[in-house]
Amino acid sequence: MRRKRLFLSRFYIISSYFNFCREKMTSAIAGILEKALSEEGVLSHGELVQLLSIEDEAELQMLFAAACRMKERYIGHVVSLRGLIEISNICARNCFYCGIRSGNFHVKRFEMSREEILSAAALALKFNYGSVVIQGGERSSEEFTVFIEDVIRRIKKLGNIGITLSLGEQSLETYQRWFAAGAHRYLLRIETSDPELYASLHPADHSWVKRRRCLDFLRQTGFQLGTGTMSALPGQTIEQMAHDVEFFRQADADMIGMGPYLPHLQTPLGAQYPDYDREEKLRTALKMIAVTRLYLKDVNIASTTALQALAPDGRERGLLAGANVIMPNIGEVCYRPGYQLYENKPCLDENSAESREKLLSSLAAIGEKIADGWGDSPHFRRRKK
Ligand code: 5AD
Repeated sequence: MRRKRLFLSRFYIISSYFNFCREKMTSAIAGILEKALSEEGVLSHGELVQLLSIEDEAELQMLFAAACRMKERYIGHVVSLRGLIEISNICARNCFYCGIRSGNFHVKRFEMSREEILSAAALALKFNYGSVVIQGGERSSEEFTVFIEDVIRRIKKLGNIGITLSLGEQSLETYQRWFAAGAHRYLLRIETSDPELYASLHPADHSWVKRRRCLDFLRQTGFQLGTGTMSALPGQTIEQMAHDVEFFRQADADMIGMGPYLPHLQTPLGAQYPDYDREEKLRTALKMIAVTRLYLKDVNIASTTALQALAPDGRERGLLAGANVIMPNIGEVCYRPGYQLYENKPCLDENSAESREKLLSSLAAIGEKIADGWGDSPHFRRRKK
């Protein structure tokens, strides 16, 4: 009897100690979130690390709720849709993690014709998507530059539609030509803000410094500047991810496109680290969205397809963690299998109309309204004033 009482009192002491620690931790997180929302002072590196280290479910919900409040304050309860057109998987680069790297000889290479790209853009107009994203492997021949220039001009003639490009590293002159043709936003992920980690993920002739300089070229050209990183990379630390968020601010980015790294078995990195914990990757990616929203406030943040690869409602969860942009694929279904940057990419066989229907109803279910117009970054508009 005495033993039982002793055991119970010990249990009581230990569990109250844990409750005390938990409350203390929760109040530390609550304090950081309060500081972020009060807009008094910028969160320190240590505070960003603390937010990105959250594991407790209640604290995670607090983080996401705070990020949503920040989004409502600066953007509203709306989501911008952009029609994604993956125009080609031909790529000059050989990144160790990417399924369409030039060294992957299992991939059947494709390129959409001018007419196919234009009819996809027409579909975006019909669907009332305010803009299109033209994404593809990196190429820099004069022929390719002219082709893109021409495609941009023709899309602009179709109607009132914004154009975002995501075509990799180019010269200042090429960026200027594409901007003059009518594109006005450009996405170039820095992939990681840590040059050493970058070097370990790329062949020796891929340069972090050169990529960083391209972001300057894009800003100089007048593009709304988009960048981003991959999270949950093998060997990546929470400090590095906190630094990524600080990098976005230093680069004065207008838009952020981030996603979790997912292995592709036909790549060196994917073959080396094929296993992963879905929940953990999803949690990390959602935390990055929430912390970026709290830190950068008025930028566009995409809820990317890689989230949907981890959970069917991954993109909706991204919005509930503070993102405000979704890019539904509007390219022909026949090209989708050729554009697998990572394995288990979703919607490979779902046509654009079907995915639109599904998306609209899932957005309505979480109370998100579709934004009107091109969905330009509020950060860009404020900077231009
Ligand atoms: N997992 C997740 N994202 C990837 N990307 C490329 N490969 C992968 C992968 N295995 C991302 C890169 C690139 C963007 C077009 O796709 O961040 O910039």
